[in-house]
Amino acid sequence: MPTLEIANLEVVYHSVVRVLSGISLVVPEGSIVALLGPNGAGKTTTLRAITGLLPLHDGEVVRGSIQLDDNSLVNLEADAIVRSGLAQVLEGRRVLVDLSVEENLLAGAWSLNRSQASDRVDHFCARFPILGERRHHLAGYLSGGEQQMVAIARALMPQPEIVLLDEPSLGLAPRIVDEVVKLIREIRESGVSVLLVEQNASMALDLADAGYVLENGRIVASGTAEELRGDADIREFYLGLGSTGSRGYRDVKHYRRKRRWLS
Ligand SMILES: Nc1ncnc2c1ncn2[C@@H]1O[C@H](COP(=O)(O)OP(=O)(O)O)[C@@H](O)[C@H]1O
Ligand SMILES: [Mg+2]
Repeated sequence: MPTLEIANLEVVYHSVVRVLSGISLVVPEGSIVALLGPNGAGKTTTLRAITGLLPLHDGEVVRGSIQLDDNSLVNLEADAIVRSGLAQVLEGRRVLVDLSVEENLLAGAWSLNRSQASDRVDHFCARFPILGERRHHLAGYLSGGEQQMVAIARALMPQPEIVLLDEPSLGLAPRIVDEVVKLIREIRESGVSVLLVEQNASMALDLADAGYVLENGRIVASGTAEELRGDADIREFYLGLGSTGSRGYRDVKHYRRKRRWLS
């Protein structure tokens, strides 16, 4: 199992817009690491840099390194990165709506032969009854939570060693978030590492071993999940987790003003 390590990463879009200003983070083998932060902080950009999708968005890595063990991922083609054992679930549940659940899963299996692929489909359908019951249904008719399960299972089809999830809980009802949490726990139990991007800090820190908080393209806090959850300032100012429960990131500007006022 490999370790993913990013050091001093800088990314610009359109050769001018600097979005990441030297971030460093590590996803040790077999762990779940949360990357938290408000909308626009640069979380999705970090994932695009890792998976080689930046050029599609006219973005580029201008400095720093991304290593999967001894292998550099910078400037590799996206399919070479998948072959090196990395998988990702894009923001916003990208299922193929006109295909069945089974066909969606098979679409994630281009690197497998036919019998391996059908074994993997059987595996997910048995393990997750929601998928098994809907196996021959069109993915477009599934609920948001079911579509998210399909998207995650599709990414896991080629048995990656590390999976990157971009806001898997976004827009899902709390009961469905619990299902997704269960699935992410199972991913880790099967030995696969997870880099979990979330705005839902309380969900992410319940699952994660460690976390990083990104703001304006910089890491402003990091530590074990326990340290981050236990630090009152971090809870209040960066995670939007007051003592009375989650406030949500949308209020972060308010707390930043308050922080300035306090200091
Ligand atoms: N293709 C792009 N071209 C220019 N700016 C972009 C592009 N994609 C994202 N950005 C900008 O980069 C910043 C970080 O975006 P993003 O990585 O999507 O943040 P997050 O996922 O944390 O919400 C935002 O200011 C966003 O507007
Ligand atoms: Mg994003």
